[in-house]
Amino acid sequence: MTEQQQYSKGLAGIQVAESDICTVGVKGVGLNYRGYDIKDLAAYSTFEEVAFLLIYGSLPSQNELSNYKRLLSSFRDIPGGLKDILERIPSSAHPMDVLRTGCSVLGTMEPEVNPQQDQYRIANRLIASFGSMLLYWYHWTQSGKRISTVTSPDDSTATHFLKLLRLDGKEPSGLHVKAVDVSLILYAEHDLAASSFGARVTASTLTDFYSCICTAIGTLRGPLHGGANEAAMILLSKFPNTASAESGILEMLKKKELIMGFGHRVYRNGDPRNPIIKEWSKKLSQEGGNPTLFAVSQVVEDIVFREKKMHPNLDFYSASTYNQIGIPTNFFTPIFVISRTTGWAAHIIEQRSNNKLIRPSAIYTGPEPRPYVPIIERSNSDRSKLVSSL
Ligand code: CMC
Repeated sequence: MTEQQQYSKGLAGIQVAESDICTVGVKGVGLNYRGYDIKDLAAYSTFEEVAFLLIYGSLPSQNELSNYKRLLSSFRDIPGGLKDILERIPSSAHPMDVLRTGCSVLGTMEPEVNPQQDQYRIANRLIASFGSMLLYWYHWTQSGKRISTVTSPDDSTATHFLKLLRLDGKEPSGLHVKAVDVSLILYAEHDLAASSFGARVTASTLTDFYSCICTAIGTLRGPLHGGANEAAMILLSKFPNTASAESGILEMLKKKELIMGFGHRVYRNGDPRNPIIKEWSKKLSQEGGNPTLFAVSQVVEDIVFREKKMHPNLDFYSASTYNQIGIPTNFFTPIFVISRTTGWAAHIIEQRSNNKLIRPSAIYTGPEPRPYVPIIERSNSDRSKLVSSL
């Protein structure tokens, strides 16, 4: 293999773009969005400030933030035609498929015509309306209710989501709102994670914004990426107490099974988002949440570290955080979508601003060139079983 033909399975360690959006694990630690430490953003900012930072490049002034929040709020209602289609999606569908479909349908109703102008509008439209799409579908399919997806213009993205989820006419508690808000900040951006890379590959063909986001949603859905928060909750739900957690995890490790919510391609000494979300999970467990779930999570963390020297990633304690707020498990990855649309948007806009088609090559390992076989000379292969089993 020549120097130009370097191969790295899964593109591990390969740099494929220049980006000024985010630094992940430089020298093995830390996470910054446009130079700001995630710890500061989680402590002092709101999700809307972070969304503005990622999409427009700088933290908003007070005036810019007020205008931006008003814009997001004006984008929360969804068209009647989209509601009709959401009503036809089965209640058994995975909510990630609902969002992927909703994004695609909105793209037919409010298409991108002039990318330079429309890309910002579409990014904000999707950030504001993904929660509306999800919860409109949810209440219709669960109880036949056609909900209004508009709440108070002052509501943050987190408050809007919790109000539409609960529909109890009450203000969600400050604790729950802040926990969701912080999780949205932590999930907003992560360099070339698979979904952002997917979005950039799609953007590099100069296709429309919605197609890029559909790619990203489909990529995020898998359990090795965003689907890990849901998978971590399914795992934790199997353990009613710390003793069963300890024996269960040891058994899984013995069988070389993956423990969802652990490990990371870049961070080898721990995910800097983990201590932040873990603290919120702990806080919730002390203030009316589920102390057993937090204790079980802590035991899983201890055992995996003791046995494998592996740390939890953001998805692990996000699971117990969302669960203690009363969010259904299959909504965990959709919340990741609402948040990461900010990062995806930043990547799509950046890719378009300095585009080159992303088109790597594979190392061919198939048959050598061979003579064509006419159909009458061919015999059945094992593959015919695949066709006949359809
Ligand atoms: N549980 C058990 N073993 C693991 C895990 C895990 N969670 N993660 C990695 N390993 C093992 C892996 O089996 C491999 O062992 P061996 O060398 O014996 O084959 C070794 O550690 C190295 O792992 P790898 O698969 O080469 O690492 P990777 O960089 O390709 O994968 C990962 C990173 C995140 C896909 C992987 O750690 C994993 O599958 N974790 C569980 C799913 C998960 O939590 N995903 C969320 C990722 S972070 C947030 C996000 O993007 O959503």
